Amino acid sequence: KKVTTLSLLAKQRKAQPITMVTAYDYPSAVHVDAAGMDLILVGDSVAMVELGMDTTQPVTMDAMIHHCQAVRRGARSPLLVGDMPFGSYEVNDEEALRNAYRFVKEAGMDAVKIEGNRPSTVRKLVSSGVAVMGHVGLTPQAISVIGGFRAQGRTAVKARQVLDDALELQEAGAFAVVLECVPAPVAKAVTEALEIPTIGIGAGSGTSGQVLVYHDMLGMTSNPHHEQFMPKFCKAYAAVGKAIHEGLGEFKKEVESGAFPSDEYSPYHMSKAEEALFG
Ligand code: KIV
Ligand code: NA
Repeated sequence: KKVTTLSLLAKQRKAQPITMVTAYDYPSAVHVDAAGMDLILVGDSVAMVELGMDTTQPVTMDAMIHHCQAVRRGARSPLLVGDMPFGSYEVNDEEALRNAYRFVKEAGMDAVKIEGNRPSTVRKLVSSGVAVMGHVGLTPQAISVIGGFRAQGRTAVKARQVLDDALELQEAGAFAVVLECVPAPVAKAVTEALEIPTIGIGAGSGTSGQVLVYHDMLGMTSNPHHEQFMPKFCKAYAAVGKAIHEGLGEFKKEVESGAFPSDEYSPYHMSKAEEALFG
């Protein structure tokens, strides 16, 4: 029951919401797969949530491939989307295709995602056999140009631009498009105008599906010493960071008090005879 671009389209036609969560390594991929998610995005958000970078701009192709390979080993059913990093697809379409092929051939991705309205690049990749997911609205790789992580499409003119961008990506052959941080009515209008599925993040409930970042939606870094930046649109479905903090603290306490390891966790024994010989 491997998810495909075709099965996603069927789901959208039946008005069944599409689910996508990011994953960056083997264990997160195993969890997202086991939860039955339709898609896994190996997002360049890895830069921020796994590598501690301030933006997504510095993450390299090699780093993305490394993470995608681990995700591939952990996921069977979801459609796997590799996020093309900043600088890997803008210079020219040939370079974009070479890098897209790396996601498919070296890392086993089923598709790639590129940010912004780049119809010629999408056309090049799709005509060369690579499925492409679009991404419009807030495109974090353009942070230096935008000036900050903020909502997009908030005027009539800008909302029209988001709609036009999405339509152009569909026309160029994208199989789906992410709508990030746009007003709900804009995302709804785009979804109604498109034939391909829209996947929203901070875009309200009118899209064909929803995506959240793994670490954010699981409350991964929430602990008393580290203020997690939690986007306003993201709901925390777990407090994994709190559980990790408590587990680590308990281990330290028990080692320091001598409570760990108890006999129960000291499983290896010698015969009495050998023990006597050993002295
Ligand atoms: O990198 C990422 O996690 C993303 C999603 C937020 C769509 O691009
Ligand atoms: Na991304």
